[in-house]
Amino acid sequence: MDFYEAVSARRSIRDFTDEKIPQETMKRIIGAAYQAPANDHFRDWHYIVVTDPDMKREMLEGVPKNLTVKDVDDMTFISDPVQKESYRFAVPRQYRMLYDAAAVIVPLMKKKVDILHPADLSHLNVFASIWCSIENLWLAATAEGYGCNLRIPWGNEEEIAKKALGFPDGYLIPCFIGIGRPAPDAVRTKQIDVHLDEQIHWQRF
Ligand SMILES: Cc1cc2nc3c(=O)[nH]c(=O)nc-3n(C[C@H](O)[C@H](O)[C@H](O)COP(=O)(O)O)c2cc1C
Repeated sequence: MDFYEAVSARRSIRDFTDEKIPQETMKRIIGAAYQAPANDHFRDWHYIVVTDPDMKREMLEGVPKNLTVKDVDDMTFISDPVQKESYRFAVPRQYRMLYDAAAVIVPLMKKKVDILHPADLSHLNVFASIWCSIENLWLAATAEGYGCNLRIPWGNEEEIAKKALGFPDGYLIPCFIGIGRPAPDAVRTKQIDVHLDEQIHWQRF
């Protein structure tokens, strides 16, 4: 797949077939994550690939299973109709989109600075870098014909996953990534329109 094709085919996928992903393919996809730029040159990230259903259940115990469209309708911060439709689709699927995926990939980044209380923007570099890595992974998965979704751990979700996964202190989970073969009827929610002529500026804003 050509690069720009992969970029436009990359969408959040929340419904999957039962197909498994061969380990060699998974290594290629995660290998692409390690080619991303990194602020301090280290790329000292770890990626845990979880395929075992019992492990997934234990790790995802904190993820809400019963959210409904009504919960989305009660979210007062959503005003845009396209955004709302996307949330109405995504929110009720937060658990299944991970549990039903062929694998949940868990990126780990080192807590080198207190990213929740950064002294300045550069203290977020370590966080920004792993997100570059996650985007590489997502694009590589797309180029291989797979789909991904993301969930940011809320509340005690990270603590529960840490206990299940047994990784040492000093690491943080930026997100859970569900990955698998998109179901034939997998929905790609509409993206918000962007207007390049209004959003790209030449020389000055
Ligand atoms: C930083 C970040 C956090 C996200 N968190 C979630 C999440 O918690 N749950 C979810 O279903 N999707 C999450 N997403 C996916 C977005 O909802 C999705 O990318 C967006 O709606 C655009 O759709 P697309 O990926 O199909 O282009 C997140 C994406 C990003 C970049």
